[in-house]
Amino acid sequence: RAKGVLNKFALDGQVAVVTGAGQGIGRSIAHALGEAGAKVAVADLEFNRAETVAAELQAKGIQSLAIKVDVSKKQECEDMVQKVLSAFGDLHIGVNNAGIVFHSDSEDTSEQEWTRTMGVNLNGVFYCCQAEAKHMLKKGYGRIINTASMSATIVNHPQRQVAYNTSKAGVVHMTKTLGTEWCDRGVTVNCISPGYVDTELNRSELLLQVRTQWLNETPMKRLADVEDLVGGVLYLTSKLSNFTTGLDLIMDGGFTC
Ligand code: NAI
Repeated sequence: RAKGVLNKFALDGQVAVVTGAGQGIGRSIAHALGEAGAKVAVADLEFNRAETVAAELQAKGIQSLAIKVDVSKKQECEDMVQKVLSAFGDLHIGVNNAGIVFHSDSEDTSEQEWTRTMGVNLNGVFYCCQAEAKHMLKKGYGRIINTASMSATIVNHPQRQVAYNTSKAGVVHMTKTLGTEWCDRGVTVNCISPGYVDTELNRSELLLQVRTQWLNETPMKRLADVEDLVGGVLYLTSKLSNFTTGLDLIMDGGFTC
């Protein structure tokens, strides 16, 4: 009986694309989806990273493809989906995870910092959702998961990241909007909102300085490991989440409680 319900997490025969999968959270999600049975396209701005992760997956016997993409460019997102369809013939799962952060006082945030952050974190997620959904809506099935952040909901003052926080709030509301618009045609859209995860994104000088403060403020008294997020993603990609759409799944060790 236990096996029956666990089988509902299996992704055998499905095809997934994960952006920002060259390292960190995206890499861990790519491994998890592959281990659950999916063929995985590993998409990243840094092609060498994507190739490395695709090779890791292939070494585990998972069919995988490396794709170079700058998600801030709509045409590149469309090309990414076309490459997945050419290689694997279908697309069931899109994990739109690529994201960047700059740290500066709000009054000094430059136009370049603002527009690049919005370009990658907000426009990029939308362009990927659109490109993926065009195929999924035709087929009547799709699971889209966007990576937002607990910074969409709360402001942790010393971080100085107005553009990032604003972009992530946009991702949450975009997810609710698309998740309700497409769900009666078989495509659900949900997002995950991690708390502090121990990745390169959090290893800037400023963030290393506030690490102890974060640990103290997180009820679990630790940063997340990338593996801590995998269960939530597998739920959202599985048949067990059939009635879930527009959800912001916060995984933050209790930080925002
Ligand atoms: P990371 O910096 O370790 O990895 C991000 C990956 O995205 C890199 O491989 C990078 O090359 C790629 N990338 C950057 N710009 C891109 C673009 N324009 N097009 C395609 N790929 C691009 O970051 P991490 O920590 O793995 O973050 C992944 C996502 O999780 C981001 O959206 C981030 O905002 C979000 N997040 C991270 C948290 C953390 O504490 N690390 C907390 C909450 C959310």
